[in-house]
Amino acid sequence: MSEAQRKVLCAIEISKTYVSGTRRINVLDGLDISIWSGESVAICGPSGVGKSTLLHLLGGLDRPDKGRVILDGFDISELSDVDLARVRNKIVGFVFQSHNLLQEFSALENTMMPLLIAREDVASSRERAKDVLAKVGLGKRLNHRPSELSGGEAARVAIARALVTRPKVLLADEPTGNLDARTGQEVQDLLAEMHREYGLAVVIVTHNERLAAGCARVLELENGRLKTASDYYNEGDRVECLRDIQKRLAE
Ligand SMILES: Nc1ncnc2c1ncn2[C@@H]1O[C@H](COP(=O)(O)OP(=O)(O)OP(=O)(O)O)[C@@H](O)[C@H]1O
Ligand SMILES: [Mg+2]
Repeated sequence: MSEAQRKVLCAIEISKTYVSGTRRINVLDGLDISIWSGESVAICGPSGVGKSTLLHLLGGLDRPDKGRVILDGFDISELSDVDLARVRNKIVGFVFQSHNLLQEFSALENTMMPLLIAREDVASSRERAKDVLAKVGLGKRLNHRPSELSGGEAARVAIARALVTRPKVLLADEPTGNLDARTGQEVQDLLAEMHREYGLAVVIVTHNERLAAGCARVLELENGRLKTASDYYNEGDRVECLRDIQKRLAE
C-alpha cells in the first residue's frame, strides 16, 4: 500500500473560529491529524474544547477556516458541496453526539437513509439495512420509531446507519455518552466487533476512559491542537496490523 492509500483521512494545520456577537472563539488552531486505514483512535478532552467541531471537520460536515482536510485522497476544499456530500456518503460513517435519528422514520428506514440518499434502490437498501441491524442486535426492532427505542438501542441504530454504506472510516461522537455503564460497555463491544469485522478506521470522541483505552491511540485536544495521550503502536505494530487487515479483506 502506498502512503496515500494508507491514510484514509488527514487534516493539515486546520483552524476554526466561531464568531458569536463580538466574541471570537478560536476552537482549533493549526491542528494536524492523520488517520490510517484500519486503525482506532480516541479523541479526549474537556467539554467545550472542540471535539465535536473537529469531528465535523474531519467528516466533511463543515469546512475549516484555514488548512486542508484530505478525505480518502480528496482535498475537500477543492470539492463543491454536492461532490463533498457524495464523497462523504461513500467514505465516512458518522455517529452523532445526539444520534440525530429521524423521529418520523422507523429504525429500518433510518438505517436505509444514507443508501437512499445515494440513490440506491429501495429493495437492496432494505436488505442491507436489515443485515446490519441484525449485526448490531436489533433484528427484532426494525419497525420501532426512535421514540420507541431505549437509549442503547438508539445508539445501535445510529451505528448501523453509519455502517450501512460500508464506509472506510467511522467517526463516532460520544457514542456511549448518555448510557449506563452496562449498556455503554455493550456499545463499546459492538464498536470493537464492527471495527474488527469491517476493517474500517474508527475515530471515537469520548469522555469514557475505558472506551478510550480500547483504542490503539489516544489523543487529547488542548488549546486547539492534539497531543498524544498514549500510543500503543510503534511502526512495526502498525505495519503488522495493516498486513493482517489486508489479509482479512482478501479472504
Ligand atoms: N455554531 C457555533 N457557533 C458559535 N460557537 C460554537 C458553535 N459550535 C460550537 N461553538 C463553541 O465552540 C466550542 C467547542 O464546541 P464543541 O461542541 O466542539 O465542544 P466539545 O469538545 O464537543 O464539547 P462537549 O464535550 O461538551 O461535547 C464551545 O465553546 C462552543 O460553545
Ligand atoms: Mg461535543
